[in-house]
Amino acid sequence: MSSWWRDAVIYQVYIRSFADGNGDGVGDVAGLRSRLPYLAALGVDALWLNPWYASPQVDAGYDVSDYRRLDPLFGDLDDAKALIQEAHAHGLRLILDIVPNHTSDQHAWFQSALAAGPGSEARARYHFRPGRGADGSEPPTDWPSIFGGPAWTRTVDADGKPGDWYLHLFAPEQPDLNWTNQQVRREFEDILRFWLDLGVDGFRIDVAHGLTKDPAFPDLASREAGGMLDAATEDHPYFDRDETLAIYEDWRRVADSYEGERVFVAEAWVADASRVARYLTSTRLHTAFNFGLLSCPWEASALRTEIDATLDVLAAVGAPPTWVLSNHDVIRHATRYGRAHTSLADARHLYGTPVDHALGERRARAAVQLINALPGGTYVYQGEELGLPEVEDLPPSVWQDPNRRYKDHDGPVRDGCRVPLPWSGDAPPFGFSPDGATAPWLPQPAEWKNRTAAAEEQEPDSTLSRYRALLRTRRDWLNRGLGASTALEWLPNAPDGVLAFRRGEVICYANLSAAPVELPAGHRVLIASEPVEGTVLPVDAAAWLVAE
Ligand code: GLC
Repeated sequence: MSSWWRDAVIYQVYIRSFADGNGDGVGDVAGLRSRLPYLAALGVDALWLNPWYASPQVDAGYDVSDYRRLDPLFGDLDDAKALIQEAHAHGLRLILDIVPNHTSDQHAWFQSALAAGPGSEARARYHFRPGRGADGSEPPTDWPSIFGGPAWTRTVDADGKPGDWYLHLFAPEQPDLNWTNQQVRREFEDILRFWLDLGVDGFRIDVAHGLTKDPAFPDLASREAGGMLDAATEDHPYFDRDETLAIYEDWRRVADSYEGERVFVAEAWVADASRVARYLTSTRLHTAFNFGLLSCPWEASALRTEIDATLDVLAAVGAPPTWVLSNHDVIRHATRYGRAHTSLADARHLYGTPVDHALGERRARAAVQLINALPGGTYVYQGEELGLPEVEDLPPSVWQDPNRRYKDHDGPVRDGCRVPLPWSGDAPPFGFSPDGATAPWLPQPAEWKNRTAAAEEQEPDSTLSRYRALLRTRRDWLNRGLGASTALEWLPNAPDGVLAFRRGEVICYANLSAAPVELPAGHRVLIASEPVEGTVLPVDAAAWLVAE
């Protein structure tokens, strides 16, 4: 039997927007527990939960102040234990999000580092450095924060005078840890054990490619700043450095010392698939998100190039690919695909311009059918199974994304893909919260009354119904072609703009061309993203076929 994670469908639960159990307008563990039957019925194999640890919530929980406690916003440890047990009872594995690159500035370590002063052992767990210039008033390097502004903030010494600077690749409230420090390394292994002991099945590693920094702290000077989306290149001062790989060898030993297959998935925005492969040897991590596809336009040749590149390099290290179309950091793909230009870069550029939602949703349905036929695992970002679009017109007064604090940050606000899910009913909060609750932490569009899970459940042709049928069919055919062990074989002579390949007994056709295409004779349609009349696959549709 092949390992569960090699072809798992993993559902990303953005916990604060999934379901609110206690009525404070923010999703929580109680809400998630009440919706486990929905997730089991959807047919996914595992859940990945965004951070639920104690946190001041400056960056929606990616600023952790205590890695062994839940934030009271979400629940407590007893809730966590109950969730792990109930998820397992539903046949769902559970993956947590570990945030090792940085802590919150409210973490006890950072507070004691500030108090202890320059040169102290407490400061050695972070990156504190003197400033440049005669009076040290210039940051130690020219590195920018991903969220805008400089990546360094100056501290104030006990005597009230300006002191050293500390590094934060993200917000100033997210100081970077120093991973050459042995205490840091041991502490994180201990945190992994804490959660593995409680029964979690693995971890998604936040900013997995960022942990180590060039000890010489060189300027970026003329090289690409390397935001998270701009692929880093070789020998970058803080991304994708060789020293980071050794950390994961230690982590792998920890995971392997547990029963069951406990796994890691890396969030590694690196230059290309060959750089990702370095993280995925059998002594390092199990899988990494494949952001290549998520960045790609809806174009057959671009997708095929990306698919081939990924399969090639990952086969060489024996790691399965994972296919991702959306997550909590990027513009939802139902919106990306609804414009004339469809890459992620285009979407950032075209933010707020008119969208053809019907087209976007149709392509999104075809895309999910396509990725679920590829070798490896797939991710579902909560709400994509309802066909939810990006909410691009949230009023600035409700924005919470920290990147919006900086004028030089040119990316779209990430709140638009984080709007609380619509579950039922005709008006907000659409069953997200119980009756009489505080309003959801971000407002939901009134049109979402047609997009609730309850409404879509009634509709055999809704995106939700199609996801359920798709994932059911995928499971049924895992042993006959769609499973991890079967290679992908491109079919010769596919018309231009059509992706056509075989996996064992199953053939997948995805029509990204401008005209309907004829499906191969002698086959019946197992499932398709749009109704298929006779043997004709419409535009922007995908189908799985088997021999008659
Ligand atoms: C990752 C997370 C993102 C967060 C950042 C800093 O990219 O996905 O949401 O802001 O790391 O932790």
